Amino acid sequence: MKSTILIPLLTAATQTAAHGYVSNLVINGVYFRGWNPSTDPYSSSPPIGVGWETPNLSNGFVTPDEASTDSIICHINATNPRGYATVAAGDEIYLQWVPTPWPDSHHGPVLDYLANCGESCETVDKTSLEFFKISGPGLIDGSSPPGIWADDQLIANGNGWLVQIPASIAPGNYVLRHEIIALHGAGSENGAQLYPQCFNLVITGSGNVSPSGVAGPDLYTPTDPGILINIYQVLTSYIVPGPALIPQASSIVQSSSAITATGTPTPGGTTTTTSSTLTTTTSSTTTTTTTTATTTTGGSGTSTQTLWGQCGGSGWTGATACPAAATCTSYSDFYSQCIPS
Ligand SMILES: *[C@@H]1O[C@H](CO)[C@@H](O)[C@H](O)[C@H]1NC(C)=O
Ligand SMILES: *[C@@H]1O[C@H](CO)[C@@H](O)[C@H](O)[C@H]1NC(C)=O
Repeated sequence: MKSTILIPLLTAATQTAAHGYVSNLVINGVYFRGWNPSTDPYSSSPPIGVGWETPNLSNGFVTPDEASTDSIICHINATNPRGYATVAAGDEIYLQWVPTPWPDSHHGPVLDYLANCGESCETVDKTSLEFFKISGPGLIDGSSPPGIWADDQLIANGNGWLVQIPASIAPGNYVLRHEIIALHGAGSENGAQLYPQCFNLVITGSGNVSPSGVAGPDLYTPTDPGILINIYQVLTSYIVPGPALIPQASSIVQSSSAITATGTPTPGGTTTTTSSTLTTTTSSTTTTTTTTATTTTGGSGTSTQTLWGQCGGSGWTGATACPAAATCTSYSDFYSQCIPS
């Protein structure tokens, strides 16, 4: 009875609202800032990052009607970031969203894909990327509409999602395409909301699996049963949109990742003396360790952090002051950083 009354209110209130983006990744405790579409497009020199760059999209989404366009690849008008993060095959990546919390009416699946970039993800043509699915839970429990969904787990998990890079994936340069599909309005055609977010990774390891994939505009259609669906009814199953999971995909228990250091993205095209010997044994352009810790930990709260260093966040015990000409800027409950004023 109660839910019957609430349905029209929920759908009406949230249909046109805009939502968010991934604020940061955490790889083995190392924080990498995402592209901030609300502020970075206005900066004359936004920091080199690992997240694909977009205009200010007002935290909006891609509609099902745009599923066959390039907008679906890495969000509307996304362009290659200038850096990447390194991760070992088998490692887990934690992706945190803003706003915190993600709106709980926005039930839906959480999807992760990889696409091999070949020589460089900093220069690759996004239309050439072919994505294969490494994770994609959807409906957890549909017995009590609108059900419990993967993104409800994300909200419960520090507003973040943990995905494992399959251990057997061949080393190389990859785009990680991470996505929430919000289904609160999906009972009507073109009512689902797709939030794709992309990140550049160099994956290291000794795996040899190179799955084939599909181009972004071939991932979904507006009438896929997982895209056009009324979730305000008892559901016993849900067909997750997109291609099947690769056989090597792993299902992991969701948990959050504590941030212990700040990573510096490696600029694309840079090759250091040590990496040049490594590149001969892998197909990646650069394979040096890139997760340089730049934060001051355990310092007293009165010392001054370095530019770009962490200056606050839940559990942070290091320096909270920023150098002159920098401001301690909060990106989430877990992380604040010294950003040039
Ligand atoms: C980004 O766009 C939204 C809506 O169009 C606007 O409210 C906001 O002020 C913009 N951000 C900046 C920094 O201008
Ligand atoms: C995306 O790019 C097209 C073509 O340049 C432009 O017309 C459109 O306004 C852009 N969209 C946004 C949200 O910036």
